[in-house]
Amino acid sequence: MAKIVAGIGCSHVPAIGAALDNGKTGEPYWRRVFGGFERSKQWMAETKPDVAIVVYNDHASAFSTDLIPTFALGCATEFPPADEGWGPRPVPVAKGDPDLAVHIAQSVILDEFDLTICNKMEVDHGMTVPMNLLFGTVDKNSHWPCPVIPLAVNVVMYPPPTGHRCFMLGRAIRKAVASYPEDLKVVIFGTGGLSHQISGPRAGLINSKWDKAFLDNLSKDPQKLVRIPHVDYMREAGAEGIEMVMWLIMRGALDEKVDEVYRFYTVPASNTAVGHIILANRAKGSKARKHKPAAAKHKRAAARAKVQQVRS
Ligand SMILES: [Fe+2]
Repeated sequence: MAKIVAGIGCSHVPAIGAALDNGKTGEPYWRRVFGGFERSKQWMAETKPDVAIVVYNDHASAFSTDLIPTFALGCATEFPPADEGWGPRPVPVAKGDPDLAVHIAQSVILDEFDLTICNKMEVDHGMTVPMNLLFGTVDKNSHWPCPVIPLAVNVVMYPPPTGHRCFMLGRAIRKAVASYPEDLKVVIFGTGGLSHQISGPRAGLINSKWDKAFLDNLSKDPQKLVRIPHVDYMREAGAEGIEMVMWLIMRGALDEKVDEVYRFYTVPASNTAVGHIILANRAKGSKARKHKPAAAKHKRAAARAKVQQVRS
């Protein structure tokens, strides 16, 4: 059976794509950002997923104000990079997994989540930037390491879905994947955010305290996040901070208890806080990995040595 093994939260700042495409990754400003994803690329190369579901939002590339699906699932055989105003990014055309995507669509729609099915869709930086950060740079004439199922969420035009709706959709996706008969290892991305506002009097707003609390709760206690109202995201994380609800789809698709494999946070990239987290489901029968503080470990070792000295 197919199984979601891990979730990845990752900002999708367009300037990161521009830095990659224009050979700026070695500049000190960008080294700070890209350096934080070295461990992630290594983890992804070791994990070797068979399929990646990427939850992202379209930025008026595939859709416009003419058509605003709340949840749009990519069921096509391939997803070309969109022209976002300066030509398509030099990344590969993403191959889809139509069989799994249609299975997910059927299962999730019968679970009463009304997805829009997209049999033709271009994808923008919202999807391609996180792909680059986790899979590395891939020649545009080559292939991403695994097929991709894009899930575009409307967080651009009011009203976006609630965090709770997103979390529950994640649960429905987990159930759908688990009922797919093929033996596949699946990862799911939640992208966007973290805090940022790109226009208006508060342009440039970044709220690191809010972002870090969000990451903490995402890892340990996601129920604290699911009822956050839109207005709180707007006030605390800026107008575009609402993108963070997409991370809740990823989190809902994971088990209740997860292991936090890795986290990275830096500000700014362009005018955005960059957040990243990798959460892994625990293999059946394994115990939680506990990270005991080094000082406590040394104290216990010293106490044991003392007891042995007294005994000898
Ligand atoms: Fe975005």
